[in-house]
Amino acid sequence: MPTPVDPSLIFQSRYGHAPEAVVRAPGRVNLIGEHTDYNHGYVFPAALEFDIRIAMAPRDDRQVRVFAESYGRESIFSLDGLVRSDAEPWSNYVRGVAFVLAEAGYALAGMDAVVVGTVPVGSGLSSSAAFEMAACWAFELASGIEIDPVRRAVLCQRAENRFVGMNCGIMDQFISSLGKANHALFIDTHSLEFRPVPLPTSGVSLVITNTNRPHELVKSAYNERRAECERAVELLRPEMPGLEFLRDVSEARFDALKGLLPDPVVRRAKHVVTEDERVLRAIRVLEAGDGAAFGELMTASHRSLRDDYEVSCPELDALVAAALTVEGVYGSRMTGAGFGGCTVSLVADAAAPEFQDRVRRAYTRATCLEPSFYVCRAAEGASRIA
Ligand code: GLA
Repeated sequence: MPTPVDPSLIFQSRYGHAPEAVVRAPGRVNLIGEHTDYNHGYVFPAALEFDIRIAMAPRDDRQVRVFAESYGRESIFSLDGLVRSDAEPWSNYVRGVAFVLAEAGYALAGMDAVVVGTVPVGSGLSSSAAFEMAACWAFELASGIEIDPVRRAVLCQRAENRFVGMNCGIMDQFISSLGKANHALFIDTHSLEFRPVPLPTSGVSLVITNTNRPHELVKSAYNERRAECERAVELLRPEMPGLEFLRDVSEARFDALKGLLPDPVVRRAKHVVTEDERVLRAIRVLEAGDGAAFGELMTASHRSLRDDYEVSCPELDALVAAALTVEGVYGSRMTGAGFGGCTVSLVADAAAPEFQDRVRRAYTRATCLEPSFYVCRAAEGASRIA
């Protein structure tokens, strides 16, 4: 776990005075329920200790100056006439949040801000949602407004959809906003109702393994999958009048109607329908203390993402295959959008040393890449820390 740099010190030396506040927003790992959120289904993520922190002070004009420590770059823009930046693409998360807040009618003030972060970028642990969420809090504090945490998630998702161009669902922004320490959140992404479910505190750990293959082409492939799901809904609607989202198709109904769908749309829909069912079962078995059954559902989720949804990649598959050879590993799957990024595995504590050792060797042999491991501790959602 890298120690976060203190953004206040950088702020002081760049802008010549102390910041007025510091906020943090976490990245996330999703335990099960992948590519279900934009189909209005179920997800089960946890917020991570990795976070994005922003030190800020309001300005009395309409200018925003943001310095990103990890890029060593500053972006300056006005709140009047917000446009995307091609020169500083990272700044689009801040610009996008300002855009949607203004569009929603909030009167924003300018600010100076310094951003630091420990969420590995491009690893599928939602550094972008964490950045948006921290930027949203920073604008709220600068402007003297306070937005409800669920609405914050909705607005940050909108920033990503409209400004960044990724048609993501609400999971990442929601968990970054509402995460609860030592719990994962069971979220119904249609009603936005949610319930914290305690994670086991002894005997087993959730271990995140990073392929260290940055995910590429994620945006285009992701948007394509989403379009395929929408196509499935259109093709099923004549048989299911009023159908809007795949979350309303049960497994039994899907089996009866799947002949209406061409390949690959039929496999995409199958993944979504079965994944929703897996989440419901996963919550039940976890609450009953059955780690082995939870692990099996995780592994089944990976197979479905690999074979039907086709968002895995050889690196993720190599990590999962290696993990499953270790005795004491209950389950393993890719987490997040896919095409690179990380896996998450449920590992008995006694098996943890062998897990890392065996997975590292097998993975490096298969891919010539070094994996990284993080034992996941579920953290709180976004907050003001100074
Ligand atoms: C990305 C998106 C989420 C979700 C996952 C896949 O993380 O931002 O909304 O769709 O992919 O489950």
